[in-house]
Amino acid sequence: MKKIVVMLSGNGSNFQKILEAQQKGKIHGEICAVIANKADAFGLERAKEAGIPTFVFLRKNFASNLAMDEAIAQQLDVLGADLIVLAGYMKILTAEFTQRFAGKILNIHPSLLPKYPGLHTHERAMEAGDSEHGMTIHFVNEEVDGGAVILQAKVPIYPDDQIDEVIQRVHEQEHRCYPLVVQWFCADRLALKEGKAYLDNHPLSPEGYAFD
Ligand code: GAR
Repeated sequence: MKKIVVMLSGNGSNFQKILEAQQKGKIHGEICAVIANKADAFGLERAKEAGIPTFVFLRKNFASNLAMDEAIAQQLDVLGADLIVLAGYMKILTAEFTQRFAGKILNIHPSLLPKYPGLHTHERAMEAGDSEHGMTIHFVNEEVDGGAVILQAKVPIYPDDQIDEVIQRVHEQEHRCYPLVVQWFCADRLALKEGKAYLDNHPLSPEGYAFD
């Protein structure tokens, strides 16, 4: 049984979907804690509702980003985390942190990386006139929204779409895909070797596992 720690900053709907998959017995692991960098993150309420311990780290209480990440890292060591799942954790992690946990941190991002790292991905895809958009789940390295891609899922953008429709479409894919990737990791099917993602000992392509 792997010990999973979820890190988030907001709503926590992806955390909720992973938790539901765990509760259905689909994941050979257990979310043992939720860490947030915002005291009012709704994800903390979801965790409390489920009886999962929560920890809040606020930047204002630390002298530097590095000091904050060191405190989080110490907490992760105490918890014995085997897997760190970033689920809408909207603070950039230091290179020291990402290197320390290399191969054990996953992130989800609402774009088809390497397109649109950073913020406002849906607006940027629509403004560029893209006809497709999507989400990416990847191992985390020191680059923002970088690291080996594990799984991407595409969604269409229709000419008459409103932004909320696009966001909703991407979210649906996120909720479908993130529990699956966590399931793979916890079943020891997924690994990072020399910067590349492997599934069942086969290297994945730069776009990750093809998922239609
Ligand atoms: C998700 O859409 C996720 O892709 C995004 O934050 C949202 C969190 O939603 N993450 C990033 O933008 C990371 N760069 P949730 O709190 O409802 O799970």
